[in-house]
Amino acid sequence: MDPQDTSAERTLPSTAEPSAGTASAASDHAAAPGPSMPEQAGQLLGHVAGYIAHRTIELGLRAGLIEQLARQPSRTSEQLVDDLDLDAFYVGVWCRAAFSAGILERAGEGYRLADHLDTLLLDGDSPAYVGGMFPLMLQSELFDRFAACLHSGERLWWDETSPEWIARVSATGRPFYARLVPDGLARVPGLSAQLEAACTVVDTACGTGAGVRRLAEHHPRCEIIGVDGDAHSIEQAQRMVEAAGLADRTRFLVSPLEELTLDEQASVVINNISMHECRDMDRATAAIREALAPGGWFVISDFPFPETDAGLRSVPGRIMAGIQYFEAQIDDQLQPRSVYDTLLERHGFVDVDWFELTPVHAVTSGRAPD
Ligand SMILES: C[S@@+](CC[C@H](N)C(=O)[O-])C[C@H]1O[C@@H](n2cnc3c(N)ncnc32)[C@H](O)[C@@H]1O
Repeated sequence: MDPQDTSAERTLPSTAEPSAGTASAASDHAAAPGPSMPEQAGQLLGHVAGYIAHRTIELGLRAGLIEQLARQPSRTSEQLVDDLDLDAFYVGVWCRAAFSAGILERAGEGYRLADHLDTLLLDGDSPAYVGGMFPLMLQSELFDRFAACLHSGERLWWDETSPEWIARVSATGRPFYARLVPDGLARVPGLSAQLEAACTVVDTACGTGAGVRRLAEHHPRCEIIGVDGDAHSIEQAQRMVEAAGLADRTRFLVSPLEELTLDEQASVVINNISMHECRDMDRATAAIREALAPGGWFVISDFPFPETDAGLRSVPGRIMAGIQYFEAQIDDQLQPRSVYDTLLERHGFVDVDWFELTPVHAVTSGRAPD
């Protein structure tokens, strides 16, 4: 990166290099007056306040306080104590912290959950759900293991993570599937008609099967195949579709995507928040193209890592920068969305196009040539 470049919208390399970023940030700040000491202190303390809000939300979810407040129009701290058999002094502390963070609003003598938080924090089927992020960020696989391996740089793979980690990643993946299936897929030209007909759909890197289940529920004439390299995730997925009564239209395969081979050709292959994880994205894309029937669709639904400094400083950019702590440990990084255009084009896909579903969710698609 050119350290002389003072443009705020400069393009970052796909894996931003800290030394180059630091040099250019210094030159940016030379051009504009910097913050005063109190402003800078306020900025730092804002991060502490955010950390406290995060812990307050996670604690409220774990202890059932947020769920109880969602059930009742308003609750005093004493009522919450009785409802959940908790300590009165501690519940008072939590309620004040939750009010200070804007999680609770005052309601008469008590509190109510702030607007939309029942959906945002509790409704795992909602496309707007963000509640899974709070426990996920506190899992040891994220910051603790990164800190412990900062010197060694030791990497791991999914089969070395805890079942809790996998369950929590799955909870954060659900709103991505909820946005993608069926509405996001309907925005890809021609795809809805294909999904209404009988066809085979493959969810590559399907994890614990939330996407396979959703695809099977929304597209009853299709057969859904879930593929993942992690055997534990596939076991969970199998159990889930059996419990949902969908086992007759779903199948699973444990395989690295780089080595994917299917007995039949698929009409649609999707990949949700996982393409960036492939140890060899080119081999995986070549295998997916091989698995697709002529004219078949490949849909990549992923985090669009910011391509500019301004994007990296935005709230979505800061969250994606946090996710990179885990990605680094499995030897990858979230990618700028445009990487997928060139990936698909390099492998001969046509009609390559994309759209954004939220600031942390973009969809790129292409078709195998006829
Ligand atoms: C972030 S999770 C997402 C799982 C699921 N798509 C979801 O949204 O809940 C990533 C998944 O990709 C799988 N994975 C990563 N790289 C893979 C590869 N090269 N081949 C097969 N599976 C892979 C992991 O085992 C893990 O289950």
